[in-house]
Amino acid sequence: MLEKDYNKMARTYDLSHKLPTRKYGEEFTFLKEIGELKNKTLLDLGCGSGYYSFLLQKLGAKRIVGIDISDEMIKVANEKAKLLKLENVEFLVEDLSKFKSEEKFDIVISAFVFNHMKTKEEVLKFCETIYRSLNKDGFYVGCSSNFHHQKYSEDFYKNYGIKITIPEYENGKPVFVKMFVEKEQTIEITNSFLFPKIYEEAFKKVGFSSVEWIKTKISPIGIKKYGKEFWENYQEYPYEIFIKAKK
Ligand SMILES: C[S@@+](CC[C@H](N)C(=O)[O-])C[C@H]1O[C@@H](n2cnc3c(N)ncnc32)[C@H](O)[C@@H]1O
Repeated sequence: MLEKDYNKMARTYDLSHKLPTRKYGEEFTFLKEIGELKNKTLLDLGCGSGYYSFLLQKLGAKRIVGIDISDEMIKVANEKAKLLKLENVEFLVEDLSKFKSEEKFDIVISAFVFNHMKTKEEVLKFCETIYRSLNKDGFYVGCSSNFHHQKYSEDFYKNYGIKITIPEYENGKPVFVKMFVEKEQTIEITNSFLFPKIYEEAFKKVGFSSVEWIKTKISPIGIKKYGKEFWENYQEYPYEIFIKAKK
């Protein structure tokens, strides 16, 4: 069960955000695409222990609501919010497939949530939730596994501390992810493969006026820190991709 898997890693998952690709690729691109935060309200779907919610709060967002199915992840997020005495963040235990927001937001985000969906129907439901949660001029930006390329092999991302194995490139089939976050510590997650067309069609079907795929960019700090050569494989075949959709 998904909740149980994530409950077990509620206090360690955020270590994965320290991996160079997450920090200097994913995070850099995410913030660039989210853009101006002043006076903006945000909904973080599948927020985990709130890594992006806290970052966006710190960078100036007016209000953030994070939801996740894992009660342990939300417990960790709430503990942190309390410790930091933050009043403009709220974390709730909710299943996305049933979640109906009363409130509308300027921006909806999600990081690595689409890749837990096995069917077209689940993706469509998630896109409906995103659409319904947005203000009339709002937009969604999120990242998920990059199924535009089929470069996944045990060793392709070895230098980045990540091992991704996809035994079969077929809709609904498992994707095994292992992240080597600290010397002895690993995070293992099983995702699902879906052809990108399924996501794109779902966004269009629920009514988004534009849907765009965005390739990960590397921050100048990341290039300086690790050198150009380090990023070559990843820059050509990043293992995440962004979708941006406007209402
Ligand atoms: C890979 S983690 C990413 C967490 C967070 N977005 C981050 O980047 O730090 C995926 C998260 O999505 C949540 N999730 C997956 N399916 C969900 C669902 N149906 N409803 C709510 N949360 C869900 C999981 O519990 C998990 O915390």
